[in-house]
Amino acid sequence: MSHSAKMIVDKDFVIGRVDDRLYGSFIEHLGRAVYGGIFEPGHPTADERGFRRDVLDLVRKLRVPIVRYPGGNFVSGYDWKDGIGPVENRPRRLDLAWRTVEPNLFGLNEFADWSKAAATDVMWAINLGTQGIDDARNVVEYANHPSGSYWSDLRISHGYKAPHNIKTWCLGNEMDGPWQIGRKTADEYGRAAVEAAKVMKWVDPSIEVVACGSSALGMPTFAEWEATVLDHTYEHVDFLSLHQYYGNRENDTPTFLARSVQMEEFIRSVAAICDYVKAKKRSKKKMYLSFDEWNVWFHSNDADKKIEPWQIAPPQLEDVYTMEDALVVGCMLISLLKNSDRVRMACLAQLVNVIAPIMTENGGAAWAQTIYYPYLHASLYGRGQALVPLVQSPKYDTKEITDVPYLESVAVHNEENGEITIFAVNRSLDDALLFEADLRSFGDCSVIEHLVLENADLKAVNTSADPERVAPRAGGGAAADGSKVTALLNKASWNVIRLRTV
Ligand code: AHR
Repeated sequence: MSHSAKMIVDKDFVIGRVDDRLYGSFIEHLGRAVYGGIFEPGHPTADERGFRRDVLDLVRKLRVPIVRYPGGNFVSGYDWKDGIGPVENRPRRLDLAWRTVEPNLFGLNEFADWSKAAATDVMWAINLGTQGIDDARNVVEYANHPSGSYWSDLRISHGYKAPHNIKTWCLGNEMDGPWQIGRKTADEYGRAAVEAAKVMKWVDPSIEVVACGSSALGMPTFAEWEATVLDHTYEHVDFLSLHQYYGNRENDTPTFLARSVQMEEFIRSVAAICDYVKAKKRSKKKMYLSFDEWNVWFHSNDADKKIEPWQIAPPQLEDVYTMEDALVVGCMLISLLKNSDRVRMACLAQLVNVIAPIMTENGGAAWAQTIYYPYLHASLYGRGQALVPLVQSPKYDTKEITDVPYLESVAVHNEENGEITIFAVNRSLDDALLFEADLRSFGDCSVIEHLVLENADLKAVNTSADPERVAPRAGGGAAADGSKVTALLNKASWNVIRLRTV
């Protein structure tokens, strides 16, 4: 049996220009993200700096525009000064966030070098857990000031004559969470964040800063936290952050696939709080959102409880992603695009080994997990103007979430190369969807390709032994007739329909 669903888009009904930084990612000093992930001296593919070339290749293919670093929870106990200067002088420290030993063989300068090699920008998170204003201004001076001051000259003495020019800075991480080293109340955090933002911008007025929103929609202080933090910081910060992870612990796939509906609700609520504070302050400034941690995370929870503490780079948070996880990630990407007028930055958390699209073996192979593919497609083809999707679709209800459309879809118009890309997920586990896209004002269109990611087994995964079990195929069968595009979207499938406007 099949249902039908329709999407109407118009060239002039634009959500907004998609900021490239929507396709950002994240590397934390956690598990094997750095050690054994991006950095493994002695690996057969490592370059002279110890950067794994096999991983760099997979990262470059993704065209990741920006990578958040060095945490995460890790950053709230991290002294950035431990990671600079001669490696042999750097201390080993206990990392209380993840109960590991941090050898500090890799730090700010190494990450700046790695980012260049990966053709990406750095989003640096400062420590507002155990550190404060002094380290905030000093790290900006070290990274960005040209020369002639203590910290900039120290950087030069470390072999980096040119400043790194890091443009995007997070003011701490998840400071509302009891698990955070140096957790703060909203007032305490708001005061710390505004003072840090002020001095950081005095050192380098060209930077943009992100204040911490809630660590998840479900936090008891959600909404009040955002309103209070913005009350303190509104005129001094450029973004407010959102974080959200989803899981399928109960093995309730229809609900799992519907989670992105809640993600959109979350985004709309945070935007409303920003606008409330704007109105209250009679401000002219619009606050943008940085969804700087999002993903599926649950597979590794039990294994992580068994890891012995105080190891260096143990295999933490190593979720092995399934086909259905890729569908959820696809839906989350569509949600970000549908709200890209407000969400200017987002980071898939994380990039390598730790809840990541890329997996490695120490000393061995690197491969793409299932979630790599929707991320790849969105990053490659989702640049341009996101168009307002008018969707007519049959819907379903779950115990928790009602009115879930089977079709999740959005289109992006790239004016430069004359392409339109439709991203579409069929959430139905039973039926194909007869899909029609009405592209009215675009005139005649032709199909470049229709990529499909699907698998008869929703729990199918990619491993080093079988790295392409779940991989996209071309030939999905979409057809264009004038400005009408039709396709059969198979049950539980991710679809990318790339069109050329004639
Ligand atoms: O990405 C893993 C962790 O999730 C991050 O360290 C933290 O910010 C969040 O709770």
